[in-house]
Amino acid sequence: MTSTDNRTARWQRYWDKHSGSYDRQMGFFDRHVFGDSRQWACGQATGEVLEVAVGTGLNLEAYPAGITLTGIDWSDAMLDGARRRAAELGRTATLQQADAHALPFADASFDTVVCTFGLCAIPDHVKAIKEMTRVLRPGGKLILVDHVASTSRIARGVQRFLETFTVPLGGEHFLRRPSVQVRAAGMDVEQIQRFKVGLVERLVARKPADGNARERNSGEH
Ligand SMILES: C[S@@+](CC[C@H](N)C(=O)[O-])C[C@H]1O[C@@H](n2cnc3c(N)ncnc32)[C@H](O)[C@@H]1O
Repeated sequence: MTSTDNRTARWQRYWDKHSGSYDRQMGFFDRHVFGDSRQWACGQATGEVLEVAVGTGLNLEAYPAGITLTGIDWSDAMLDGARRRAAELGRTATLQQADAHALPFADASFDTVVCTFGLCAIPDHVKAIKEMTRVLRPGGKLILVDHVASTSRIARGVQRFLETFTVPLGGEHFLRRPSVQVRAAGMDVEQIQRFKVGLVERLVARKPADGNARERNSGEH
């Protein structure tokens, strides 16, 4: 086993282990930091929808009726939570174990890809964004919500300190800027919002209608 495999296995175990307490912990941040972000993101989903890193399915009740939902996560225990929630809500969804770095779907399979609070935890978020773009149909929407590097230098200092233990422990990153990679992947960003000293970023980006989400060299990381 390589050191990358070891690290991946450790982070998967982390999410399996924390699946039982996740909803309670996340509920606090949803109420006090992220506001209506789940409704904002899911309310804009249409058609065949893929949710990447679906976790325990906290978004399930926010999707409009009439969409077809597929959710993937690499943690079986988190997915069990999502399956229970789907049953309780009477929501039909295909929930399957998969890795966001190599989505098991053909190119151009979905109208919408949603990922909330997943890119902070996916080890290679650049690769994951490329995969999300690949499986989108031309004209399809990518909807992301996450905590990102703050616009405040002081807050970024705190985030840098937090990362010294959250990354080795559970692969949780605080200094990422997904919007930079979304643009670099050739997507057209149609909406972008930052709030809470820039800690929360939510965006909607569209895959160009000609299907050529060309790779752009943004120079930023
Ligand atoms: C902070 S939770 C977010 C869960 C959910 N999206 C939400 O909004 O509550 C991060 C999730 O990312 C999943 N994850 C991390 N890396 C992944 C990968 N490479 N492939 C699939 N899921 C991954 C974890 O298992 C965990 O369920």
